[in-house]
Amino acid sequence: MDLPTPRGPLTETLFGALRSGDDFFAVLTALPDADPGDSALALWVLHQLHYRDFTGVPDDLEWDAQLLRLRGLLERDLEQRLRSRFTAPTGLGFVADFFDWVAEHDGASIAAHVHRDATREQVLELTRMRSIYHLMETDPTAWVVPRLGVRAKAGLMELLYDEYGAGDPNRLHHHLYARGMEASGLDASYGAYIDEVPLEVLEQNNAQSLFGLNRRLRGAALGHLAAFEATSSLPSSRMVQGLERLGFPREYVDYYAEHVEADAVHEQVAVHVICGGLLADEPQLEGDLWFGAFTALDLEDRVARSVLARWESQEAVA
Ligand SMILES: [Fe+2]
Ligand SMILES: [Fe+2]
Repeated sequence: MDLPTPRGPLTETLFGALRSGDDFFAVLTALPDADPGDSALALWVLHQLHYRDFTGVPDDLEWDAQLLRLRGLLERDLEQRLRSRFTAPTGLGFVADFFDWVAEHDGASIAAHVHRDATREQVLELTRMRSIYHLMETDPTAWVVPRLGVRAKAGLMELLYDEYGAGDPNRLHHHLYARGMEASGLDASYGAYIDEVPLEVLEQNNAQSLFGLNRRLRGAALGHLAAFEATSSLPSSRMVQGLERLGFPREYVDYYAEHVEADAVHEQVAVHVICGGLLADEPQLEGDLWFGAFTALDLEDRVARSVLARWESQEAVA
C-alpha cells in the first residue's frame, strides 16, 4: 500500500522520515503541533507497520525504537481520551448482564438509514469508509490469542476460525468484503480509500489496534469484540435489505448475509466462552471488559453521527 496523503505537520514529517529511514527525532518534535486528524493518521500508519508493508518503507522500521516511542505517546493520548468518555456500570456482572446492557444502548444507526433511505452514492461512500476495517476484519483481535488462558483461547480460536473462513479462502470474511467491493466497481486493495476517511473512522480502527497490540489491554480487546459481535446481526440484516433495495450485486449482499447468522452465534461465544473464560482466570479484568465494550459502542456512535449529519446537510443543500 502507498503511504496516505499527510494531514498536517506530524504526518508530513513522519512520512518523509519513513521514506528516508532516518531522523525520527524530528518527528517527535512535530508531535505538539499535531491536531486530532493528524495524530490519528500518524497512529494508524504506525499500527499498519505491524500488519502490512508500505511502498518505499523498510520492513525493519516496524521495531524502530523511536517510532515505537512515538506510537506509545499517541496511544497514551488515545487511551486517555477513550477512558475519559467511559463510566463503569455499577452493580452489573459482565456475563449475566451484558446483553441487557447492550439492549439499553440507543445509538445512531447507519444500517437503519441504509435499510430505508440511503442513496446508492451514500452506500458506495460508506463501503469505501468501512473498507479500512472490513478488509482486515478481525486481524486486530488475532494478536490477543497467545495472551489468554485455555478456555478463552479455545473460544476465541473457534470464533476466529469462522471469521477466517473455516479453512475455505472463499468464505474468509474480509475476502467476502473485497469481492463485494470489486463487484460494486470499487478498488478492494487495502487502504485504497484511506485519504477520504474521517477522523472518527481512524479513531475506531486505532482503538482496535491499541487494544490488540498491547497485552495489558486484553480485557478491553475482548470486551470490544463482544460488543462488536452483539451489535452486528440485526444491522447486518438491515444492510442486506438496503443493498437489495438499491440493486447492489449478490457478492456484496453476501457479506452482510453471512453476518446475520454468524454473529448471532459469535455474540454468544464472545460473551459466555471468551469473556466468561477470561473472567474465570482473571476476574480483575472485568472493568476493562466493560471499557472495551463501551468503547466499541461509543466509537460506532461517533462514526454514525458524523456520517449521518454530513449526509443530512448534503441533502438539505440539494
Ligand atoms: Fe465477520
Ligand atoms: Fe463475527
